[in-house]
Amino acid sequence: MRKNIVAGNWKMNCDLPTSQKLIWELKKALKPDYNCELMIAPSFPCIYPAFNSTLDTPIEVVAQNCSEQEKGAFTGEVSIDMLQSVGVKTVIIGHSERRDIYKEDDALLAAKTVAAINKGMRVIFCCGEHLEIRKAGDHFSTVGNQIEKALFNLTPAQMEQVVIAYEPVWAIGTGETASPAQAQEMHAHIRTMLKDHFGDMTAHHTSILYGGSVKPANAAELFANPDVDGGLVGGASLDAQSFLAIADAF
Ligand code: PGA
Repeated sequence: MRKNIVAGNWKMNCDLPTSQKLIWELKKALKPDYNCELMIAPSFPCIYPAFNSTLDTPIEVVAQNCSEQEKGAFTGEVSIDMLQSVGVKTVIIGHSERRDIYKEDDALLAAKTVAAINKGMRVIFCCGEHLEIRKAGDHFSTVGNQIEKALFNLTPAQMEQVVIAYEPVWAIGTGETASPAQAQEMHAHIRTMLKDHFGDMTAHHTSILYGGSVKPANAAELFANPDVDGGLVGGASLDAQSFLAIADAF
């Protein structure tokens, strides 16, 4: 079901004391109500403590990545079962840092997505174009391809477990944000693709988040767009006040 979501992607920034301190600060500043779901994505070693520390809050602890493999000789990987055993119900898949730095390709991301969905997980599937692609005017087809290759083998019922995060790579960690019009235009394009392939219901039910230098100063104008259902927030999520100010922008 389509929901407003503000998710903090902590990336590889918080060790255990830092992670627990940030959670403590979030809990101290939390208001009784937000017009969105709140998620945080700590690194793997911090997930279980984070899960325990947020049990009495509306904050969901999600994972930044998972293996496509079920179990076995995959040194350094973390399986979906393992994540579920520490309380994780949602996983981010296909972040541009996974695509670019760790060379995760469309086939691998499709395999991760279906594996997570088959285990009952919710997936935040990331897509987005590089600057040169946007300059060449190929951003719609590039993002369209990423979605088609990873998601179009799913059924409409499986798509109910998918949230899409559009993150233009040129806006991630750069301080440069897509304008509200650029975000809306791409989100509307994605929703039309979902409608054409899966039907009205899926298009209507899928939350589409924007990511890329979301901060308190720009969140409200981004979230005001009809097809922007929230944000995947990196840098600004490492500060409790700014993360909650973004959540408050709904
Ligand atoms: P940023 O990161 O908010 O620091 O740009 C967003 C992301 O990578 O998810």
